[in-house]
Amino acid sequence: MFAKVSSLGLFGLNAFHVDVEIDISRGNPQFDIVGLPDAVVRESRDRIRAALRACSINFPVAAVMVNLAPADTKKSGSVHDMAIFMAVLKAMRMIDTETDGCAFIGEISLNGDIRRINGVLPMVMLAREEGVRAVFVPAENAAEASVIDGIEIYGVRNANELISHFRGQEPIKPSERYIPPETAYTDTLDFADVRGQQFAKKALEIAAAGGHNALLIGAPGSGKSMLAKRMPSILPALTFDEALETTKIHSISGLLTPETPIITTRPFRSPHHTISAAGLAGGGSIPHPGEVSLAHNGVLFLDELAEFDRRTLEILRQPLEDRKVTIARSSGTVTYPCTIMLIGAMNPCPCGYYGNPKRKCTCTPNKVAAYLSKISGPLLDRFDLHIEVAPVEFDDLSAKTAEESSANIRKRVVAARQLQTERFRGTPITCNALITADKLQGFCPMDDDALLLIKGVFDRLGLSARAYDRILKVARTIADLDGSEVIRKNHIAAAVQYRSLDRKYWAG
Ligand SMILES: Nc1ncnc2c1ncn2[C@@H]1O[C@H](COP(=O)(O)OP(=O)(O)O)[C@@H](O)[C@H]1O
Ligand SMILES: [Mg+2]
Repeated sequence: MFAKVSSLGLFGLNAFHVDVEIDISRGNPQFDIVGLPDAVVRESRDRIRAALRACSINFPVAAVMVNLAPADTKKSGSVHDMAIFMAVLKAMRMIDTETDGCAFIGEISLNGDIRRINGVLPMVMLAREEGVRAVFVPAENAAEASVIDGIEIYGVRNANELISHFRGQEPIKPSERYIPPETAYTDTLDFADVRGQQFAKKALEIAAAGGHNALLIGAPGSGKSMLAKRMPSILPALTFDEALETTKIHSISGLLTPETPIITTRPFRSPHHTISAAGLAGGGSIPHPGEVSLAHNGVLFLDELAEFDRRTLEILRQPLEDRKVTIARSSGTVTYPCTIMLIGAMNPCPCGYYGNPKRKCTCTPNKVAAYLSKISGPLLDRFDLHIEVAPVEFDDLSAKTAEESSANIRKRVVAARQLQTERFRGTPITCNALITADKLQGFCPMDDDALLLIKGVFDRLGLSARAYDRILKVARTIADLDGSEVIRKNHIAAAVQYRSLDRKYWAG
């Protein structure tokens, strides 16, 4: 007796369709699964036998052969359990209902419970594209699956529920579409808490407005971490497509919950400096996304940047340029997107007071140099904005005046982003930081004075081509915040001012 049931699989972020074919025939009792299953898939035999027993159904005393097609794609994990279970029941004629147009994904446990799985969102998105009518998912994944419009989602709690549904005894109700709540930034961290520091705040506003990378450098206690942690409060909202892209990565990493089935605010990831290269950039034998991809469409904050392993940081260089991480394995190549703003924070030396106007640094010049050299030239080059955070002034700390709120700053950021959205319509570019070299001239028109100034700076400072590009992009954002389509001299001057640290600290 033959039966066929649809399932879905996942490799990296790419979902694919799987046909579970089963044949039950007379012969020596056995249960085989073929079609490049990994060890976890092969073990589903034991889970299915036990789950059937839990439903008071005896496993057939016959030769049972399951094929997972396409046979040349590796299948991994427990995601096909529910489909194999259904296929067994259909081949045994315990269920006669048609299951055409349905797909099944979910792990089954020994007592018949259906357990949550990772990666439901990209699989359901593929199912909809392929015209699947209904997907049966673990009940715990139902909210995540219901984010997708135009496909029926059934959340299944256990094997008995599935059987009564298809026997028409007690139909499972399809899930209602999950509509994410209006995105509101609810965290309590606000720039109004930071006294003074106008220079640093302005720089972070520019970073948020153009999607630029920024490096904060200053003495311990000057407020670097405090400033960086307030970035999410001034970032523009995610578009729905961006939200889905980011959610997919969190979905395959198993980070979604029924309460937050979709990521609706820009991620802010701040991994500890002891993180491994694979943890930061992605990797592992089944390649998983790293922090840089979990931060996709948001911020990756590396606090105490100089404490990170130097090689780990260097691995970030390529992904920062390409906006994606590619991981090669014998089983194939996986690509994860990572369009991020990188915010770094560091002390200028081991004691923290090198270059400080008020306190003497106790480090030897060699020690300072060794400390700074943890950040290589090419990595430093990738920070569009260098922000020197001076110790807060006593007058600022004790002032009675209120500081500007994040909500206010965010209004200017959003207005500047709107100009960018108009400018880049019809291109894949979403913000100034992402302008490609070939489009730079067209999108960054300068008046004569601005041109003269940047030429002078280029010659005088011996800028690299990358530094020049980045200054121009930052000037573009400063002009946008100023509501000016043409980049003027003062915009260039301000942008150059944010590239001063390499000369002050790294020059010697
Ligand atoms: N400008 C400021 N306004 C208000 N409090 C500040 C300011 N700068 C620093 N602080 C206080 O000092 C603490 C230490 O700041 P932190 O951000 O951890 O410094 P850093 O990361 O530069 O070492 C903060 O938690 C905050 O209480
Ligand atoms: Mg800190």
